[in-house]
Amino acid sequence: NYYAIIMAGGIGSRFWPISRTSHPKQFIDILGTGKTLIQQTYDRFLKICPQENIYIVTNENYSDLVKTQLPGISDHQILTEPVMRNTAPCVAYGSFKIENLNPDAILAVAPSDSLILDEPKYIESVNLSMETAAKNDCLITLGIKPSRPDTGYGYIQYNDQLLNGDFHKVKTFTEKPSLDIAKTFLQSGDFLWNAGIFVWSAKSIVKAFEKYLPDMTDIFADARSVYNTENERQHISNAYQQCTNISIDYGIMEKADNVYVLPSEFGWSDLGTWTSVYQLAEKDYVGNAVIPSEKVIMYDSSNCMVNVPGEKLVVLQGMHDFIVVEANNTLMICPRDQEQSVKQIVADVKQKF
Ligand code: GDD
Ligand code: MG
Repeated sequence: NYYAIIMAGGIGSRFWPISRTSHPKQFIDILGTGKTLIQQTYDRFLKICPQENIYIVTNENYSDLVKTQLPGISDHQILTEPVMRNTAPCVAYGSFKIENLNPDAILAVAPSDSLILDEPKYIESVNLSMETAAKNDCLITLGIKPSRPDTGYGYIQYNDQLLNGDFHKVKTFTEKPSLDIAKTFLQSGDFLWNAGIFVWSAKSIVKAFEKYLPDMTDIFADARSVYNTENERQHISNAYQQCTNISIDYGIMEKADNVYVLPSEFGWSDLGTWTSVYQLAEKDYVGNAVIPSEKVIMYDSSNCMVNVPGEKLVVLQGMHDFIVVEANNTLMICPRDQEQSVKQIVADVKQKF
C-alpha cells in the first residue's frame, strides 16, 4: 500500500546559470556524483515502495527530461501539468489519482531537488512515518534541526504530545517567515525546519483538501471518473487552469490541526544556493571546491567554488571566496557572500536578453 509522489515541476531559479527554466535544478547532477537529484530521489524510493507505485508530478515541458533521466518509469507514472500552480495542485493531483486506484494507499510526498546524505536513516524515518500514517488520521512532516535563520523554509513549532513514540504534535507551522521572526524561532529552540517531505494516508490528505482547499478538491474529485482513462490528460489539462496558485505549505500545513513532525537527521540539504553546495562539496586544503575537477588551475586562491564543465581551461589568480560558474553560454563570477543577488540578476537578465 506504499506509494510515492515526487514533486518535480519547480524551476529552482537560485542555481542560475546552471539551473534554468528549461532545465531546472532537479535534473542536474549538482555535486558531480554521477546522478541528478531526481534520479537520487527516485532511487531512494525504490527502497521504500514498489517501482510501479512511484509517481512523478511535473510540468509537461519537463516530461521528456523525466523520461530520459528515469528510463524505468512508465508513461502513466508521469503526471503532467500544463501550467505551474505550485505544490498544492501537484499534491492534489497525485493524491486523488492514487486514492482512486487504492483508497488504502499510504503516500510519501517528496521534493525532487533536495540532497540526502544518510540514506539508511532517511529510509528508516520514512518507513516509520508510513507505519504511523497507516494507523492514524494525521499529516506527518519530517523536521530538521535548524542551523541559521533562513527565510526560505517552513518553521515547525512542536510540543511534547507524542504519537507512536517519536512523532510530536505540531503547534504552529509558519511558511517562509520574515528574517526577524526566523531569528526568534531559532532562539526559542523548539522549532524545526520543514524538509518538505510529507507522509499521510490518501484518506487523510483528501480529508484535509476537502476542509482547507475545497475549490481545488472539487476540481480533482470531479476528475475521479477520468483517472487512468484516455481522457485523463485532456481533462486535467483544462482543470489545472482553474487551480489557485498555492503551495501545500500555505494551503494545508499551516492550517491543519492534525500535523505531526518526526524530528529527523539524515544529512539533509535543500541545496538552495551555491554556498550550500560549496559547504557539502569536497574541498582541497585551502577550501577550494571544484566540480568537475579537470582543467582548473588556481594560484593564491582560496575558498572558491568553481563549476565550469567542458573543455575550457580555467585559471584563478588571487581569488578568495568567489563563485565561478559557467553554463549555457553564461559565465557568472560572484563573491560567495553576495549570492542572494542571483534572483535579481536572473530577473534583469530575463528582461534584457
Ligand atoms: N509538480 C510541481 N508543480 N512541482 C513543483 C511545483 C509545481 O508547480 N512547484 C514546485 N515544485 C516542486 C519543486 O521542484 C521542488 O522539488 C518541490 O516541489 C518544492 O518546491 P520549492 O519551490 O523548492 O519549495 P520551497 O523550497 O520554496 O519550499 C518548500 O521546501 C522547503 C524545504 O526545502 C516548503 O515545503 C518549505 O516549507 C520547506 O522548508
Ligand atoms: Mg526548494
